[in-house]
Amino acid sequence: MRESGTKSLWVGDGTPRPTAPLHKHLSTQVCIIGAGIGGLSTAYLLAKEGIEVVVLEARQAGEGETLRTTAHLSSALDDGFAELERLHGAEGVKLAYQSHVDAIDEIERIISAEGIECGFTRLDGFLCFPVLDAEGLFDKEVQAAMKAGVSFEARNQAPESWGNIGPAMRFPRQAQFNPAAYLQGLVQAIENLGGKIFTGTRVTKFSSDSRTATSDQGFQVRAAEMVVATDSPIVDRLKIHTKQAAYRSYAIALEIPAGAIEPALYWDTETPYHYVRLDESGKILIVGGEDHKTGQDNDPAARFVSLTAWARRKFPMAGALIAQWSGQVMEPVDGLAFLGRNPGDDHLYVITGDSGHGMTHGTLGGMIIRDLMMGKTDGYLRLYDPARTNLSAAAKYLQENANVAAQFVDWVRSGDLQSEDDLTPGEGGVLLVGLNKLALYRDNHGKIVTRTAVCPHLGCIVNWNNVEKSWDCPCHGSRFDTDGQVLNGPSLSELKTADTDLPPIEPTMIGTPL
Ligand code: FES
Repeated sequence: MRESGTKSLWVGDGTPRPTAPLHKHLSTQVCIIGAGIGGLSTAYLLAKEGIEVVVLEARQAGEGETLRTTAHLSSALDDGFAELERLHGAEGVKLAYQSHVDAIDEIERIISAEGIECGFTRLDGFLCFPVLDAEGLFDKEVQAAMKAGVSFEARNQAPESWGNIGPAMRFPRQAQFNPAAYLQGLVQAIENLGGKIFTGTRVTKFSSDSRTATSDQGFQVRAAEMVVATDSPIVDRLKIHTKQAAYRSYAIALEIPAGAIEPALYWDTETPYHYVRLDESGKILIVGGEDHKTGQDNDPAARFVSLTAWARRKFPMAGALIAQWSGQVMEPVDGLAFLGRNPGDDHLYVITGDSGHGMTHGTLGGMIIRDLMMGKTDGYLRLYDPARTNLSAAAKYLQENANVAAQFVDWVRSGDLQSEDDLTPGEGGVLLVGLNKLALYRDNHGKIVTRTAVCPHLGCIVNWNNVEKSWDCPCHGSRFDTDGQVLNGPSLSELKTADTDLPPIEPTMIGTPL
């Protein structure tokens, strides 16, 4: 039986309620795979247009990544306006900024129209710079933000809550909410509009040609249009996966005396950076950061130790630690999500590449796909087109894909373990047996669960994640639970049992040209 890892602050009483699993074959106008913010926003906006929608979700709504966010709703993009200007030009940055302003407005409109109680609050965002800014980051950001028409105020000093040190940029009309309550509101609204949501329904076969999705129970949904909103798309092997990379990000929640910190969104320019907000009550401080590439850290638990130490240094008034969790961030090489038609497919749409702005990018995905299906050709469609190429991002593209290719060295390395006796209950590790690499987990009852350590997507060797009790692939970020079941795509299928023949390695990891 699956033994799971951390739970986020948002999981509990307010978690979206389960709906029934798919129990028969269906036909519909639009089938959406994934009930996170991207899938449910799309379903809601299409249902508002009178379009028939069916949503399929492997677990419960939001249980993929949306409930692992810290839910900063920000139009100040955290790749930085100067970097985005290099990648997309001043006009591109202007559009990108405006698109996130529109996404926050859209969320506010939906909340108001549907009467969703989710603690939505408008507040300032502060980008805080170091005192010793040797690279002149502050000046570069200010210049780029001015060119892009961003609404902001440059300050010589960061706010008192950040310690009054270093300069800062203040961005008005950012926002925060409780993502679990928002998703529950969307679920209710979609059902009120006649949409159907099936949770506990894992899609294990998918055909973009026949536009069908088949569940693990063998039931099929046939649709005129398909939308894949599964964080990392489960539908293509390389078209998009070479243009984005999977990272883990860590978050903690600490008690804090009411009024000790000014309610706002805060983030810094460190590498990796930190991001901070309060919850709706103002008595819980949520701190995130410590990002690293998925499957490429041998001791994720140490990330919580570092993050907690940083938070306690920065906010010495913080009290007890009440939650800690991690989540997956898909980082596109050019900093903007992939939202729209899947490259080469007329009737298949994707929402992926959240770039640390999952709430706004997910909402934008819904807005863009609605517009495409309604025949619109303007707005943000080109900026977020999944088929786009961006030569300014070539260096990052090569760097990320060289990193993927380097992961194949794991095939010839020895495993983490000498034998299964090295494992205590709750631990996992990779064992080399002959030419086979096995993923071994000792469950809480002492029983060993064995799977092959070969990722079914394209054949990299998975690594043990001691925080989430998962097997994480270092190549494109697929993740698997202790039973080998898929937690994150792009893999559609589970880790094979150890007696299955290993799949061949595919040699084309560098993939399609940018
Ligand atoms: Fe691509 Fe594992 S996710 S090889």
